[in-house]
Amino acid sequence: MALLLLSLGLSLVAAQEFNPRTVVQRNYNMARVSGVWYSIFMASDDLNRIKENGDLRVFVRNIEHLKNGSLKFDFEYMVQGECVAVVVVCEKTEKNGEYSINYEGENTVAVSETDYRLFITFHLQNFRNGTKTHALALYETCRKYGLGSQ
Ligand SMILES: *[C@@H]1O[C@H](CO)[C@@H](O)[C@H](O)[C@H]1NC(C)=O
Ligand SMILES: *[C@@H]1O[C@H](CO)[C@@H](O)[C@H](O)[C@H]1NC(C)=O
Repeated sequence: MALLLLSLGLSLVAAQEFNPRTVVQRNYNMARVSGVWYSIFMASDDLNRIKENGDLRVFVRNIEHLKNGSLKFDFEYMVQGECVAVVVVCEKTEKNGEYSINYEGENTVAVSETDYRLFITFHLQNFRNGTKTHALALYETCRKYGLGSQ
């Protein structure tokens, strides 16, 4: 299900000038990920957490690769119809493109694919109370199809 949603999202990306040869799946140059991104798609094996008011339903605005190797996300989320901004700094792990953060339990956030220019997908794993939840997020540089505009 998650993969189906993700490929649907990617086909929206593909509608633009998408070049599969520029897609990177390892050895990420995280400095190139810095910039403005928009949330396009989210999928999870626990839909409660990404539906309205779900704790993982956050909308990205900006990603910054910090000098010390951490990855800073500027997110927004909705609380009773109000947009609330939050900054999340994820610490790098020993794996390239993978970060960790404590938020509603322990999380790893890993890049799974990007072309640096049009889209990036992240794979989030959350460990809370002995339960593991996966989520996939697709971010794009174009806000045309954004979740935020719904
Ligand atoms: C890296 O820098 C950021 C911003 O100053 C800070 O929040 C974070 O804790 C630092 N990470 C490490 C591992 O020092
Ligand atoms: C964690 O599990 C305990 C025992 O099953 C439960 O009482 C508690 O509400 C759970 N906490 C969360 C955050 O899910």
